[in-house]
Amino acid sequence: MDPVSIAIDGPSGAGKSTLARMTAKAFGFLYVDTGALYRTVGLYTLRHGVDTRDREGVAALLPDIKISMRYDDSGVQRMDLNGEDVTDLIRTPEVSMAASDVSAIPEVRAFLLDTQRDMARRYNVIMDGRDIGTVVLPEAKIKIFLTASAAERARRRYRELREKGIETDFETVLRDIEQRDRNDSSRDIAPLRPAPDAVMCDTTEHDLDASFALLSRIIRERM
Ligand code: DC
Repeated sequence: MDPVSIAIDGPSGAGKSTLARMTAKAFGFLYVDTGALYRTVGLYTLRHGVDTRDREGVAALLPDIKISMRYDDSGVQRMDLNGEDVTDLIRTPEVSMAASDVSAIPEVRAFLLDTQRDMARRYNVIMDGRDIGTVVLPEAKIKIFLTASAAERARRRYRELREKGIETDFETVLRDIEQRDRNDSSRDIAPLRPAPDAVMCDTTEHDLDASFALLSRIIRERM
């Protein structure tokens, strides 16, 4: 039997990764966080002092980048960049913005496409990102577009960063979220938008448990 794919797309901070991880566990699927791929390219670009918006400069770096995605013993997705584990280094606000920039570069998207499709060919996956239902896996069995208001997403992200000990203030987080929304939705290639057959899921008014219940119901009904 062919593996089953579930695509979860939506803007930054909508709760995609937390919810996708919980749902994958509940349904016995592999959770694939595709944002981590763009973040890894963003980190490499920053380290090499190349402007993250410079299409030619970033494209020229790609042949030197070897990214592998693996899962540790507790099932956590880890990212290796040229053999170095960068899983924790790609979570800073600076790398978030760099990821958003490099993700608008067509060469970067093409570079990462195979890795994503390959995972879906081999495993039952719940894959989260921005263009999974529209570009990466247009044949996905279930597509969900997960969203929440920008203010609510900023509140969640702010709390998350503080818990990780990353110093920041709410206004900066909100500005970053709005900036990334603009970047991700307005780019020419694979812009953030719901697939025509996606189920819309707004979690602004829902806490984590209620969002998880909603998502699980959507999936169960369509499986
Ligand atoms: O989901 P995230 O915040 O880790 O993603 C980081 C950036 O990568 C985000 O600004 C948009 C981009 N991205 C993308 O363009 N396509 C994806 N499938 C996943 C992420």
